[in-house]
Amino acid sequence: MKNNKRREGFSSGLAAFFATLGSAVGLGNIWKFPYVVGENGGAAFLLVYFACIILVGLPVMVSEFYIGRKTRKNIMGAVKELTTKKRWRSIGIIGILAAYFIMFFYTGVAGWVYSYVFKILRGDFNGATAQSVQQQFTNTTAGPVAPIVWQIIVLTVVSVILIGGVKKGIERITKTLMPVLFILIIVCDIRALTLPGVKESFSFLFKPDFSHLTSQGILIAMGLAFFKLSLGMGTMVTYGSYFTEEDNMFGTAAKVAISDTIVSLLVGIAVFSAVFSFNMEASSGPGLLFMTIPLVFSKIPFGKFLLIAFFVLASIAATTATISMFEVLIAYYTEQKGASRKKAVILNAIVIAFIGAFSTLSVGETSLLSGVTIFGKGIFDIFDFLSSNILLPVGGLLMALLVGYIAPKEDIKRELSNNGKLKIANIIDFYYFVLRYISPILLVIVFLSSVGVLEKIIKLITG
Ligand code: PHE
Repeated sequence: MKNNKRREGFSSGLAAFFATLGSAVGLGNIWKFPYVVGENGGAAFLLVYFACIILVGLPVMVSEFYIGRKTRKNIMGAVKELTTKKRWRSIGIIGILAAYFIMFFYTGVAGWVYSYVFKILRGDFNGATAQSVQQQFTNTTAGPVAPIVWQIIVLTVVSVILIGGVKKGIERITKTLMPVLFILIIVCDIRALTLPGVKESFSFLFKPDFSHLTSQGILIAMGLAFFKLSLGMGTMVTYGSYFTEEDNMFGTAAKVAISDTIVSLLVGIAVFSAVFSFNMEASSGPGLLFMTIPLVFSKIPFGKFLLIAFFVLASIAATTATISMFEVLIAYYTEQKGASRKKAVILNAIVIAFIGAFSTLSVGETSLLSGVTIFGKGIFDIFDFLSSNILLPVGGLLMALLVGYIAPKEDIKRELSNNGKLKIANIIDFYYFVLRYISPILLVIVFLSSVGVLEKIIKLITG
């Protein structure tokens, strides 16, 4: 099983790091993080988010790496190899389903981001005002043709890269683009630091006021940590299966979590500096990014250049994250179902474009399918809700249990220490403890709350 010679993998630890970071850094940092932090009151929420990353995110990420590198298989194959008990296969099913559901809406948002690069070049944001950027966002989501076309463009770009394979596709693109992304964010932040609202933005992000923190906020922080670090659907199992035997999986996980958090904070500083400089609402929801960033760069020298830089970096982040979701499906269909890589990519891209179109056409009040609801939620929201709040936490919980209670501890020690080469016995013991006793409990709380059970129980208890 380990000597699966024909199976591709990353060529070095650095390549593995960039690919994994490429998966973590995505629309989650740039689009979701600012508005979720904004809606939940800032710094106090952030502290809880950090705790979730450390107590649940990191242990689950290391577990996914362990599952992947030990078995050298896709999510379904890996689980089947670790245990013969059929019920654990639900991890594979959840992973595959989550990959589809997230891609249905994520490629739509990525399409808006791509389209912004084009619109900025065309001059749509010249002389932008708070009202005009709002109108632009409404027009972007309204459609019906443009958002679908952009979604198909995103899927085409991702497909072309994926057909290139693990080394020539994923590795080459992430290794080139991740450093560019960091440079672009820093350039944008330098501008944001000169805005009048920067002081307020720092105290919003870093001076905790616990009176803003709600119990719901704590649970949202956990969901965000999961989505951010691409956990619970087998992305990190799949990428872990491409790691070299020398890779220090704890080191990679820690570096990815830290870098990902830095990116989120850098984006947060830019977005909130604009919010406070232009008297906007920090809690204005999913359109926040699209309505603030164009204002950050309006009316300054080289503003248009910086604005393009920002949306290019957002496009890069969205693309590398989409690649990692899609790879979960490609690895599954090629290894379990015997499809060729090309066929797996193209057929799946068509299915995702088709169903994704329904999700994309449901956003915004003026869009074609805006009135259509399932269980009281729009199509876009239902895919987001089912994947982020149900499938990812359940998938993550099951993986934590599989590694914490089913996999032999000796084997975990051997694999994580690279056969004893890394002297990290204490770290492994600590990880094992948290994985068995802390992460699962916290995850159960999140899950129960996201389906509303916890609120009902609390209400019952408190009358
Ligand atoms: N981590 C990605 C982001 O923040 C989203 C993602 C979720 C990617 C799950 C892969 C798997 O945008």
